[in-house]
Amino acid sequence: MSQSPPSSALLVDSHGRVLRDLRISITDRCNFRCVYCLPETEEAANFYQSRFRNPAVAAVGLPTIPIHRQWKPKAELLTFEEIEKVARVAVSLGIEKLRVTGGEPLLRNGVENLVARLARIPGVRDLAMTTNGFFFANKADSLRAAGLHRISFSLDSLNPVNFQKMTGRDGLAGVLDGINLARRTGFDPIKVNAVMIRGLNDHEIEDLGGFARERNLIFRFIEFMPLDSSRAWQRDLVVPGREILARLKNRFDLTPIDSSANPSETAKRWRFTDGRGEIGIIAPVTEPFCGHCNRLRLTADGKIRTCLFSIHEHDLRPLLRGGATDDDLRDELLRIVVHKEAGHRIGQPDFVQPARTMSCIGG
Ligand code: 5AD
Ligand code: SF4
Repeated sequence: MSQSPPSSALLVDSHGRVLRDLRISITDRCNFRCVYCLPETEEAANFYQSRFRNPAVAAVGLPTIPIHRQWKPKAELLTFEEIEKVARVAVSLGIEKLRVTGGEPLLRNGVENLVARLARIPGVRDLAMTTNGFFFANKADSLRAAGLHRISFSLDSLNPVNFQKMTGRDGLAGVLDGINLARRTGFDPIKVNAVMIRGLNDHEIEDLGGFARERNLIFRFIEFMPLDSSRAWQRDLVVPGREILARLKNRFDLTPIDSSANPSETAKRWRFTDGRGEIGIIAPVTEPFCGHCNRLRLTADGKIRTCLFSIHEHDLRPLLRGGATDDDLRDELLRIVVHKEAGHRIGQPDFVQPARTMSCIGG
């Protein structure tokens, strides 16, 4: 295996932002059907559409291709060798944080072998994974042994019926077990993400906050973004971060956490003054934080995305499969990042929802 020599070049975009965080989607598949991401074409999407009809979508109709026929064929996915190569070159250009995502990353066979490869790259300061938690019990020990530093779960509801409404699956008990097991396996801190949708789970804000406190979690409330396959997103469905915070402050004694040393942090954070755990609010829609974004994304099929909302992608697969050297890849990454968007345009008249959903892009 060729080693990348350390490079003094950094990934700097045309707005002067230095990129430090690479999110790697390793599969577009998922066993969940979250309404904000991949609602099932029939039941969930219909439920969702009938409840939250988006007139623009009603006019053109929903996609009718069953989700399982939209998955990328295996041959189009980057191999672990290819992923490792991109990560190694990116780290040689100043990337310090790697996050493995999906789809659901635990669906990829041998995911722990990839984690072990990434953990061995010199210069990786933080190696994390985002999972829906459903299969975590099978993998907790091997992921830990492979060198995974941190794990984030998705948990949008504490009520089994509502959980199923949100995710399309009867999976609450499994995810709660997964969170407990992560603790026992030694993952610390443990992060949990909840996407809030008006009329679906906003009545659970206080319960979720209480859960964070009781279980000593780093809990993130996330505004719903227009990245859903049903294209049913509407502004009215977004629960503004400031409303979430006001309700939490009403219930709990919260002390702000100073993040000024870490300007690219997406969450505004508070700890429970009288207890453990913390809450954070991620408000990309009502309070965009693009100005300090230091993130880059690699999709499972080898495309670099410079923003969650990019319309253009940069395909690395032809390079990777055409004998490109590390230097070729390095030059390509340096060239690509210059085009990183200033920020997303949600809410602007010219906003265009990207063709890919979060399940392909990786959170
Ligand atoms: N809006 C906001 N967050 C989303 N996620 C997925 N889809 C959306 C969306 N439309 C988040 C989930 C998951 C992470 C991978 O991405 O919280 O934890
Ligand atoms: Fe799967 Fe995550 Fe998308 Fe839910 S948000 S459908 S768990 S990829």
